[in-house]
Amino acid sequence: MKNILFVASEAVPFIKTGGLADVVGSLPKCFDRENYDVRVMIPKYLCIKEKWREGMTYVNHFYMDYLGQSRYVGIMQYEYEGVTFYFIDNESYFGGEKPYAGGLWDLEKFSFFCNAALSALPVIGFRPDLIHCHDWQTGLIPVYLKDGFQGGEFFRGIKSVITIHNLKFQGVWDVKTIQNFSMLPDYYFTPDKLEAYKDGNMLKGGIVFADAVTTVSQTYADEIKTPFYGDGLDGLMRARANSLRGIVNGIDYDVFNPATDTMIAQTYDAKNFRKEKGKNKKDLQAQLGLPVDERKFTIGIVSRLTDQKGFDLIQSVMDELCSDDVQLIVLGTGDEKYENMFRHYDWKYHDRVSAQIYYSDELSHKIYAGCDAFLMPSLFEPCGLSQLMALRYGTVPIVRETGGLKDTVEPYNEYESKGTGFSFANYNAQEMLDTVRYAKYVYYDKKREWNKIIDRAMAADFSWQASAKKYQEMYDWLIG
Ligand code: GLC
Repeated sequence: MKNILFVASEAVPFIKTGGLADVVGSLPKCFDRENYDVRVMIPKYLCIKEKWREGMTYVNHFYMDYLGQSRYVGIMQYEYEGVTFYFIDNESYFGGEKPYAGGLWDLEKFSFFCNAALSALPVIGFRPDLIHCHDWQTGLIPVYLKDGFQGGEFFRGIKSVITIHNLKFQGVWDVKTIQNFSMLPDYYFTPDKLEAYKDGNMLKGGIVFADAVTTVSQTYADEIKTPFYGDGLDGLMRARANSLRGIVNGIDYDVFNPATDTMIAQTYDAKNFRKEKGKNKKDLQAQLGLPVDERKFTIGIVSRLTDQKGFDLIQSVMDELCSDDVQLIVLGTGDEKYENMFRHYDWKYHDRVSAQIYYSDELSHKIYAGCDAFLMPSLFEPCGLSQLMALRYGTVPIVRETGGLKDTVEPYNEYESKGTGFSFANYNAQEMLDTVRYAKYVYYDKKREWNKIIDRAMAADFSWQASAKKYQEMYDWLIG
């Protein structure tokens, strides 16, 4: 039996701000359970919903010296779908309204978390053979492990992997601050270790010291070796190229299943979607106050409303996009400029645009089920999960060819009758608009072709199975 511990800042179903939580929460149960005991550790945020916190059981607690004070570290546990989740409790660090506050406080919070997570292991009696870290919040862990954390025998030989879900966020502050929070000696603060461009960089520490580095698609693994996508770390990525691999994300095929989904008006499958899927469109239109018309080409967007996701492209052609034969449905929150942009167009084209500026799991499922197409023109996209959900629900993705979008959506080819969606190469609003119009033309004028795209989309397999195998192979190779 190989013991693996995932350490991360969020995991479904307990706490989620983005795709990271989906991956950390849904991948562990997909490993071969006979041979891998995969557990998860995240902070016990006060903002985790009551119903989850109530179900946690107390494991143990201890006090840990951190930044000159003795700090409480509680450990709670929750079994969910056969996977053990551990929660690190400290209300002064994890008491905020949201998991991340932005800025200095997060750096201290997650430095504390890295220390507490490792210190908790001897206490809970689970000695991982390998710790699988995710994103900058856990970047110090591989460093501590290489340093033989607290010199104890317990930690000797524990391997580490770090997965980059988004290179944009690195946990950066001046060297003095990072050194103070991490409690690491001077030795670590040179440009070949935790220093980058004169600052301290927690993610860089993880990438330099982990035994292997992964990211969430092959294309993104290639892209981050170039300056445009590398966010200052492309040189390091090239240097670590031999230890860097791309393993594409999957989604939970039980949670996202149009044949059994209880959140949607009408279940359907790959055989009967021609007849049944449209009922979800009418239900969605009615719920959102759009004209109920099963024939209307309906485009969905479910996203964090940030620059990464390509909303400036959408903004610059919004009027052209909202022609009278289209309905556009948006769900999500984020940058105020985009929230207000969509609110404005909802007001301006009330019969064509519906802006839902909040987040709802239920409405997201209704959008995946009810729309014809799903738009994702990202500037960069390490993997992207929404396009996988859209494919699963036979909602045709329209994407920019970057990162995971490029690896998971096969562009429609009318001559060879191939493809599961539509895509464009350049980060250019006109190209995006042309691609949407082309999709719309196929939808209205080549309905049989459109339905065959849906056939292929629904037949594509992005469940976790294949990717979990690749992680297992990597664990085997590292643990030996
Ligand atoms: C981040 C990335 C997204 C990826 C997700 C899970 O949110 O932006 O592309 O799918 O992490 O790996």
